[in-house]
Amino acid sequence: MKMYKNDFPLLVFDTNLAYLDSGATSQKPQCVIDAVSEFYARKNSNIHRGIYKLSENATIEYEGVREKVKRFINAESSEEIVLTSGATESINLVAGSLSKYRPWSNEEEKRPLRVLLSVAEHHANIIPWQLNGCELKTVKYDSDFRLDIENYKSELSKGVDLVAINHVSNVLGTVNPIKEIVDLAHGAGARVLVDGAQAVPHLPVNVRELGADFYVFSGHKMCGPTGTGVLYAKMELLDSMEPIIGGGDMVERVGFDVSEWTGAPWKFEPGTPNIAGIIGLGRAIDYLYDIGFDEIRKKEVEIGKYALEKISRIDGLRLYGPDTMTDRVAVFSFAFDGIHAHDIASILDERNIAVRAGHHCCMPLHDGFINQPATVRASLYIYNEKNDIDRLADGLEEVKKILK
Ligand SMILES: Cc1ncc(COP(=O)(O)O)c(C=O)c1O
Repeated sequence: MKMYKNDFPLLVFDTNLAYLDSGATSQKPQCVIDAVSEFYARKNSNIHRGIYKLSENATIEYEGVREKVKRFINAESSEEIVLTSGATESINLVAGSLSKYRPWSNEEEKRPLRVLLSVAEHHANIIPWQLNGCELKTVKYDSDFRLDIENYKSELSKGVDLVAINHVSNVLGTVNPIKEIVDLAHGAGARVLVDGAQAVPHLPVNVRELGADFYVFSGHKMCGPTGTGVLYAKMELLDSMEPIIGGGDMVERVGFDVSEWTGAPWKFEPGTPNIAGIIGLGRAIDYLYDIGFDEIRKKEVEIGKYALEKISRIDGLRLYGPDTMTDRVAVFSFAFDGIHAHDIASILDERNIAVRAGHHCCMPLHDGFINQPATVRASLYIYNEKNDIDRLADGLEEVKKILK
């Protein structure tokens, strides 16, 4: 298996770091860092408005990323791609717009939007709906840490406008059967928003094959810069949705009485965006393509199997997630009875092993399903090697000796 560590300057700088927190944010390859710094050093100017070469070139490069994202997720048109600051902004944008007007409904509806979530949603896929007065229902997971499809069918039959669900859980690592979820939702007259924040770094995503109406993700978990992200939506939806943030660069005409927006996707992108960051996101897509998703998945399954085997041998460790790599990514959340997750993470940190401890922005999942307030999460990516897992396993044995 090829090693990718050397592409990531932070991991070359700190060779002794076992970075196991890629679910929070991935490390950045040199080519992405170069693309961002080269923009500021040689190409910096604003987009869409200058009539001089520097600005025109910046616009071409920025708009070129929209095209790359289109190919990355196999959207039908680059105009279905709204460039945002991340999954959080993307979901807020949809929640804000849909709660005012549901484009697929003919009724003059005054009632709240009925949104069906799973119990494993990230706060970014809960709070935006709450802030916009939506009525929320949830679908359960079963004891194998898989979405309970029978429960899903039953909730759908009660009347749902929109299903908003993760593609991959940031705690359990489970890959949800999105195509089946979408087909069932469409059969029941509901639309589907997929939170792909934890999927795009690991799996090839094809929005047309999945049938998703909306698909959102962040750039920084897939080797791109922070403050970059994507909202994909089917064109007929984007066309009929209203913007919820206003400002420059999104208008045809502005008057004090009334203004007119440009078309999608630009009407959802007011103000000066993170130009350098989006260009870095484009470079991250190139980087992942150069490796190839077959290779990314092959490496992940190999190291994931190794991690599952090692972790399962640790006496007293309880894993919250599927125990095979089938329909799963290498994100492992676990706990020990009587030892707080923060204490575990602190002791591991003393050994230069970086893991996450807490509720991972999934409080309802911890409260209502895992039944404890905090877990430790080790989340892996292409630059991790078996040695990182060995160090984690040894570190956890040490933790037990110290704290039990
Ligand atoms: C499943 C999931 N959804 C949404 C988000 C929010 O992403 P961001 O903070 O990049 O907007 C995260 C971040 O951890 C996530 O794991």
